[in-house]
Amino acid sequence: MAYIRKVIAPEEIRRQEAICASIAARLREQGARPLAMVDTYGCQQNEADSEKLRGYLAEMGYGFTNDEFAADVIVVNTCAVREHAEMRVLGNVGALNHTKKARPSQIIAVCGCMVQQEHMAEKIKKSYPIVDLVFGPHELWRFPELLETVMEKGKRVFAADKNDGAVAEGIPLRRDGKVKAWLSIMYGCNNFCTYCIVPYVRGRERSRLPEDVVAEARELVAAGYKDITLLGQNVNSYGKDLDCGVDFADLIRMIDAIPGEFLIRFMTSHPRDATDKLFETMANCRKCAHHLHLPVQSGSDRILKLMNRHYDRARYLAEIEKARALMPDLVITTDIIVGFPGETEEDFAETLSLCEEVRFDAMFTFIYSPRVGTPAAKMDDPYTRADKQKHFDALTELANRISGEKHAAYEGRTLRVLVDGETGREEYNLSSRTNGGRLVHLHGDPALIGHFADVKIVSSNTWALYGEIV
Ligand code: 5AD
Ligand code: SF4
Repeated sequence: MAYIRKVIAPEEIRRQEAICASIAARLREQGARPLAMVDTYGCQQNEADSEKLRGYLAEMGYGFTNDEFAADVIVVNTCAVREHAEMRVLGNVGALNHTKKARPSQIIAVCGCMVQQEHMAEKIKKSYPIVDLVFGPHELWRFPELLETVMEKGKRVFAADKNDGAVAEGIPLRRDGKVKAWLSIMYGCNNFCTYCIVPYVRGRERSRLPEDVVAEARELVAAGYKDITLLGQNVNSYGKDLDCGVDFADLIRMIDAIPGEFLIRFMTSHPRDATDKLFETMANCRKCAHHLHLPVQSGSDRILKLMNRHYDRARYLAEIEKARALMPDLVITTDIIVGFPGETEEDFAETLSLCEEVRFDAMFTFIYSPRVGTPAAKMDDPYTRADKQKHFDALTELANRISGEKHAAYEGRTLRVLVDGETGREEYNLSSRTNGGRLVHLHGDPALIGHFADVKIVSSNTWALYGEIV
């Protein structure tokens, strides 16, 4: 059955904001200025969700702190992509026993992808009695109402039922920075790669309307943001659910047409849906960064098939070639999983050779982590953790060598960068990014933050470039 795109009515969001206002009035009566802490794990989408949580909390009158002992409300926004992230969350939530003892009125909420899994919600219910509120990504839009129930009834609330997800516009946002902004253009994923938990916890692909995305981009530009990253689990399939004749490349064009000096970035792209039209649009839109994060996951056709990725090595390489032909300065980054069930020496050698062939500017490498309920978790896996670690180390070494070589090739060149923050160090006190997203450390006046500058690259290492303003 076709998925029907569900929209949360604007009145519903207004109702949530009215709840925020009534909580704010109550807290004001009590005198003290309440504090909240939002702790975020995982991907940029989660960072963007946390900006909504902070938006609501700010409307409730909360200030923000990073000190868990000072916080009246703690929200832990979790990730489920790998076991490691889940273990960190559970460890850190467990440690909140101390803060709750010191401050018994403290409210602890755990939300996000991890608790959208039934077994995890159960685990928290049984083993973490200090947690007052649990809600999945689909309930984020009604966080105020959930929190109010905890406050008024003093009982634990669990809201993470199975759900395909909806689109909610108009949730207040409190962004972290003043230079770079996340802009969600779609939610969910339909791909069901066999290792991945995301489609189960974030629901089906659903796009925001182009006019809503463009309006938000306009607001960001007007507010002075210079670097806008369009976010989605699979941005290349933007618009497919809308039937309004606007695809992802069209959306980039529409945002590129907004007057002003700013950069458009996006992530993540799926090689299955990356089109020539997208590459041409990237090449032709002046404001679109020449950076493509195109996760390949494996260089072995056999493993790509088992992963349900819908492309093979040859097609991936052909896409890279096309994109580079159109944008010779293109920065290409990727994600790779090592140790997928049954991955042999030969399969892994194919991954190494693909990386040598493409020469990625940066690679994000992960050891496969079985996820409850995914097909890969049921596949035979005769290899040990030690085998996988050996491959992981070899791949990391290759990735670092290539990044180092690519960075060294920038030395002596002059590039335009966007200065985005301070490093806290004396010698290279500013950080900046090239159009392709490479990190450049600089020395200069902090007043440059939020401005573009021309920089001569003087040295480099595996992770960063070092430059002088010209
Ligand atoms: N184990 C290891 N890595 C994973 N990723 C997604 N699911 C898993 C898993 N079960 C990686 C993929 C993806 C990135 C965000 O996380 O490489 O692109
Ligand atoms: Fe997971 Fe694949 Fe969807 Fe990415 S495209 S979120 S790896 S299922």
